[in-house]
Amino acid sequence: MLCSRRMEIDPLARALNETLTREAPTVFALLSERGKRLFFPVEGILGQTSEAKGSAMNATIGIGFDDVGAPLALPSLLKSFNLPPEDVLPYAPSFGLPQLRERWGAMLREKNSSLSVRLSLPVVTAGITHALDVAAALFVDPNDSVILPDPAWDNYALTFSSLYGASLSSYPAFRGAQYNLAALEETIARSPGSKKIVLLNFPHNPSGYTLTVKEAQDLAQLLRRRAESGDTLLVLLDDAYFGLVYEEGILRESLLSILSNLHERILIAKIDGASKEDCAWGLRIGFLTFAQRGMTDAVATALEHKAAGAVRASVSNACRASQAALLSLYNSPSYDAEKVRTFSLLHERYREVRRALTDSEIANALQFLPFNSGYFFCVALPTWCNADVVRRALLRDHSIGVIAMGNLLRIAYSSLPRKHIEPVLQTIAQVCRSQNPPENR
Ligand SMILES: Cc1ncc(COP(=O)(O)O)c(C=O)c1O
Repeated sequence: MLCSRRMEIDPLARALNETLTREAPTVFALLSERGKRLFFPVEGILGQTSEAKGSAMNATIGIGFDDVGAPLALPSLLKSFNLPPEDVLPYAPSFGLPQLRERWGAMLREKNSSLSVRLSLPVVTAGITHALDVAAALFVDPNDSVILPDPAWDNYALTFSSLYGASLSSYPAFRGAQYNLAALEETIARSPGSKKIVLLNFPHNPSGYTLTVKEAQDLAQLLRRRAESGDTLLVLLDDAYFGLVYEEGILRESLLSILSNLHERILIAKIDGASKEDCAWGLRIGFLTFAQRGMTDAVATALEHKAAGAVRASVSNACRASQAALLSLYNSPSYDAEKVRTFSLLHERYREVRRALTDSEIANALQFLPFNSGYFFCVALPTWCNADVVRRALLRDHSIGVIAMGNLLRIAYSSLPRKHIEPVLQTIAQVCRSQNPPENR
């Protein structure tokens, strides 16, 4: 009896599903079985707590207060924070602090000024990885296929495949110096069923590539063609490295601006956060925001409730102190100038990488994947060369740490002082030259 009750869909989930079925059937069609069951429990402890807010004797809240209504606090703990106790110690709402959600939403519009559709209010997650997890909970069923570039950030496999049971359909990210949109289109067309889940990540980890403006427009045409031919698409935009673009002619706004008004059969889930945008990696604050052509308020709210339900079910809520610290950062008069300084540092290193690559010894020994943005670039080793052997040699003999992925070496200039860039590249070139092709062995 208990078992069958547990699998029933809660009436609140049913109400959200009815809204989606009525107002956005294509969004409903994209939900996973888990996503259909998800809801935010507005009527339980949280709802009753919220109703009792402001009551003279409030015995609902699951934290401790002292006799004058301040959160119980251990002073030695508070010493680590330059924020009032009420901004640090209580729980945050599962949706995130309302002011932070509003602020991030407003900043999204400022950063993407050509956006033409309404967005849902961002739901706060415990980092960008968690926003990916919440999106997977809402939309990914076992055996769904998630379409990804190759190479891709390896954590996608852990989330989508190992945790949610999806299969991964990869396409080669590059054809020569360009993003391989033809391979992406073919992979979408080949992927079974009409529900398609496409993950796009620019600036891209590991290559450090962002689409040119022309490629972004071609991508939009491609996705529109798929939607017009009957596919229903969920496009997950992992914008973790948003803003770090170093060349002209490269897309500066999120793909959200270009894709969100394309077609009713395309739902965009924008996944971003403070981790890289605000150098706040360990604060663990990410955001999940939805957009769809013609999205109504009710649909946006239903999606926010489902996302907040997934947050409530996994981590309950994201760190309040981190959210308060970010709000205070966004209100700081020097925020923009501070961001320009960190951007300039990374930009300078990017330019140094580009300069070092013109050195003929390096240029003759190494091939690169295209790159123009982000934290990384990748050396593509010849197929006979084992990247992990090269990685180990660099570490053992030269104290240089890089990441080996397939036949790629990923080099994070984001963490390399400028003066080390050329010597690191020279050493990589030297170690690569010392690897013998099979015919010379
Ligand atoms: C492409 C990409 N997405 C997401 C993340 C995760 O960000 P967070 O640390 O906020 O979980 C990373 C971190 O390396 C990343 O490279």
